Amino acid sequence: MSVVVTQRVHEAQLDRLRSAGLDVVGPLADGPPPRAELLAAARGAGALLTLLTDRVDAELLDAAPSLRVVANVAVGYDNIDVAGAAARGVLVTNTPGVLTEATADLAMGLLLAVARRIPEADAAVRDGRFPPWGLFQELIGLDVAGARLGIVGLGRIGRAVARRAALGFGMHVLYAGGAPDPSDAWAGGAEAVGFEELLARADFVSLHAPLTPATRHLVDEAALRAMQPGAVLVNTARGPLVDEAALARALSGGRIAGAGLDVFEREPEVEAALLASRRAVLTPHLGSATARTRLRMCATAVDNVLAVAAGSVPPNLVAHR
Ligand code: GLV
Repeated sequence: MSVVVTQRVHEAQLDRLRSAGLDVVGPLADGPPPRAELLAAARGAGALLTLLTDRVDAELLDAAPSLRVVANVAVGYDNIDVAGAAARGVLVTNTPGVLTEATADLAMGLLLAVARRIPEADAAVRDGRFPPWGLFQELIGLDVAGARLGIVGLGRIGRAVARRAALGFGMHVLYAGGAPDPSDAWAGGAEAVGFEELLARADFVSLHAPLTPATRHLVDEAALRAMQPGAVLVNTARGPLVDEAALARALSGGRIAGAGLDVFEREPEVEAALLASRRAVLTPHLGSATARTRLRMCATAVDNVLAVAAGSVPPNLVAHR
C-alpha cells in the first residue's frame, strides 16, 4: 500500500511505515502542498496522512480511487469530508487522547493570561512603564479562584480543563453538553446546565466542542449578549465556533472583559479588530504544540495507517454521523 504524506512529519514514524513494507510518498511539502501536487500524488494512494490544514474534500477523494484511509494528525477532523469518505468506502481516523492534557494546559493558560492581563503587563514592563504598586493601580485583573467556569463540551479536553479548574484553581464548574466520567474527582461539585444558563452564569466560558454544522457560530452576537457583563471567553477548539466579528464588537464595546483565543475563523487570518484589542490574548493554534504531544499525535496517526494496512479496524476510527 502506498501512503501519501502531505506535510512534514516525524521521520522515525515514517520509518515505521517503511518497516511494515509500505511505500511512503512524500512528505509533499513543509506546509500545505500545492493542490495540484496533492491531487496528482493522491492518484496511487492507499492511505493519506494529513494535517488539519489539508482539505480532504470530494475532489481529493475522487482523485484517489485506491484510497482506504485518511489518517488525520489531529483530534479534530472538520477538514475532512467524512460523509464523502464513508460514501466511497474510505475510513477516517484521528488522534484523540494524546493531546488532551497539552490542550487543557493552554486553555487554562489563556484563561489566566486574560484574567491577570499577563501579556499587557509583560508589554508594560518591557516598554519601561512599570506601574507604581497601588491599590488601584493599572493592570488590575479578575479573580480566578472561586469564579464560575462554564465548559461548553465536556469531552476529553473539557474534562481535563474542569479538573485543572476545580481541583487546581478552586473554580466552580458548570458544563453544557457531554458528561463527567464516574472517575472524575471534581464531578460532585460540577453542575450540568443548558447552554443559555451557562452563558448567563459563567464568569469564564471555555469552548471544547467539535466544529460541526450545528456548532458553527455557536457563540454569536446573541450568545455574547447573554454572557455575564465582564465575562471572559476562551476558545481552544475551532475558530468558527465563534462569530469573530461579533466577538470583536463585544470586546470593543466592553460587553465582555476579554477573550483568550487559540483558534480563528479563517486561520491564519485574524479579524483586524481582534488584533487591535488589548482585551484579547491571541495564540496561533498551539493547543497541542508541545514536542512530546506532537510526536504522540504523529505516532497515533501512523498506528491507524498500520492497522488499516494489516486489515484491522484502526484504533481511532471516526464514525460518520
Ligand atoms: C488540533 O486542533 C487538533 O484537532 O488536533
